[in-house]
Amino acid sequence: MNPLLENKSSVFSAIKNRRSVRHFSKEPVSDDLVDQILESGLWAPSGKNNQPWKFAILRDETLKASLSTFTHYGQVIRSASVCIAVFLDHTRVYDRTKDVQAVGASIQNMLLTIHALGLGGVWLGEILKNKEKVAELLGAQKEWELMAVIAFGHPLKIPNHSGERDSLQEKVFLRR
Ligand SMILES: Cc1cc2nc3c(=O)[nH]c(=O)nc-3n(C[C@H](O)[C@H](O)[C@H](O)COP(=O)(O)O)c2cc1C
Repeated sequence: MNPLLENKSSVFSAIKNRRSVRHFSKEPVSDDLVDQILESGLWAPSGKNNQPWKFAILRDETLKASLSTFTHYGQVIRSASVCIAVFLDHTRVYDRTKDVQAVGASIQNMLLTIHALGLGGVWLGEILKNKEKVAELLGAQKEWELMAVIAFGHPLKIPNHSGERDSLQEKVFLRR
């Protein structure tokens, strides 16, 4: 197969087969893998290439336990080997909508890489209700706004459903 096509199909397969994983084994995730995941976050597109993201990497059990108190999904954070807190850096912002979209692209890149590496992870947004407390806990600068926490590790339980999405028919309103 043409390597270009093969690559494209593996991207599509990762997009379709990735599921949110919320149960992890105790097996550690190496620093090399964490760096690959972060690197994929760096390579997201951003408006004017302004790269408005900042990352905090959490492995420490005590720190994760403190973070876990700020969300209903605390058990997911405690059981994950690693969490990445993703911030929007307001010193880089030029258009809030576009900058938030760019951070979302960075998060999705990382989730896809987590999946492609045989790991599992989940995008946690509910914790944003306590974004100021999280920023304080992690020693973030005041210009950095929490956008999400990604919790990941070696999957213990991979959801056995293939995911549910509305049909294209429902979503496409114009094709001409
Ligand atoms: C912005 C955003 C916030 C989310 N917040 C949470 C969350 O706080 N807790 C959680 O368990 N999953 C969270 N998710 C994961 C979604 O529940 C999940 O992506 C969705 O149900 C589709 O399932 P799938 O990822 O397995 O395809 C979030 C996803 C996004 C994009």
